[in-house]
Amino acid sequence: MEAEELELAGKHIVLGLSGGIACYKAAELCRALIKAGATVQVVMTEAAEQFITAVTLQALSGRPVYTSQWDRRESNNMPHINLTREADAIVVAPCSADFIARLLHGSADDLLSLMCLARPMVKVPLLLAPAMNREMFAHPATQRNFAQLAADGATVLGVGSGFQACGETGDGRMLEPEQLLEDIVAFFTPKVLAGQRVLITAGPTYEAIDPVRGITNLSSGKMGFAIARAAREAGADVTLVAGPVSLPTPRGVARIDVKSAKNMLDVVTEEVQQASVFVATAAVADWRPATPSAQKIKKDGSGRAPQLEFTENVDILAAVAQSAAAQLGTLFCVGFAAESHDLLENTQAKRLRKKVPLLVGNIGPDTFGQDHNALLLIDGQGALQLRRASKLSLARRLVQEIATRRRATGVLHSQA
Ligand code: CTP
Repeated sequence: MEAEELELAGKHIVLGLSGGIACYKAAELCRALIKAGATVQVVMTEAAEQFITAVTLQALSGRPVYTSQWDRRESNNMPHINLTREADAIVVAPCSADFIARLLHGSADDLLSLMCLARPMVKVPLLLAPAMNREMFAHPATQRNFAQLAADGATVLGVGSGFQACGETGDGRMLEPEQLLEDIVAFFTPKVLAGQRVLITAGPTYEAIDPVRGITNLSSGKMGFAIARAAREAGADVTLVAGPVSLPTPRGVARIDVKSAKNMLDVVTEEVQQASVFVATAAVADWRPATPSAQKIKKDGSGRAPQLEFTENVDILAAVAQSAAAQLGTLFCVGFAAESHDLLENTQAKRLRKKVPLLVGNIGPDTFGQDHNALLLIDGQGALQLRRASKLSLARRLVQEIATRRRATGVLHSQA
């Protein structure tokens, strides 16, 4: 397996904590950033120190934590300048309602707000992860402050919804550390698919025999979900049509759950009207029982199994590839080929049969359900092997390859 590149390798993040119960999640975020390859310098407000100690964050980040603008460890006594000049971003998580209000007015009466004000704005982006009670979040003052901070160049990340530490339920929880990491990685990803609307099918389909039984396959959906995540990181507007799988939806991706091949076809037919890229990763069942029984089929005691008749499902990819948009080149189609042998020959033949510009071959038994895969990209020019790696890193490579080919067709920016 190839050594995988860490997503935030070489990035230096200043992680600022303002006061809020979500400080406990900041410890986990600090760890996640470091695991992703970043170096992290933690800065805490006095209020944050009421919720978590600097010792915890020093241990996790491997660096002394800064809490005061009068910190004498800096030889020039200017931590607000020194700490920001080498940063790739300042991430304030949690970002309290009060801290947001202070940022808005350009306050500089503690180290963290001073640093945000003193940062070189072009070089050091500011990302804010709000965390507050639902009433504080919904208050017009807070919403106004978010809008103005965004207009001033800050990136205001989303919030979670649900049970809050105060006992109330609603919007305003800080995003979970994994979600924040996903958003931070996306923030740094070059937007090679900006303006594109990408439609992806993923997972297996389920073809009912009767109300309690059906036919499905071992596809986990992981590759399609990874492509959805990678396409969103690359700036696309992504819709994911998912067969029955229990994977979490990637951040910022619109998901439509379906069951059967027929459901998937109906949803794709509708959604593809708005798409500029279609990626079919789903392991769509080739056949479905011709007449599923409305009632559970019972054993009749004869010892004989019921005889099932099958009908072929529509080939969704081939149908989309024959649409006017695909023919005109305003819709770029990418298919997958799950093979068990002769990968190159079978993928080449399938590409011609389905009439798609790019078909991605993989060996089904080597990938179904696994976190890793190897891909063989076949297009009109030839073959490109992507060696075994995590599905997410392969998905990111594939997204780049799609963007390059899309650009070559000259329609990449016409959709924007
Ligand atoms: N596909 C589809 N609709 C179907 C069958 C397949 O959209 N009814 C798509 C898959 O999502 C994939 C590609 O077609 O992108 C190839 O799927 P695969 O299962 O490898 O090929 P089949 O067309 O089923 O051919 P075969 O089973 O003969 O290999």
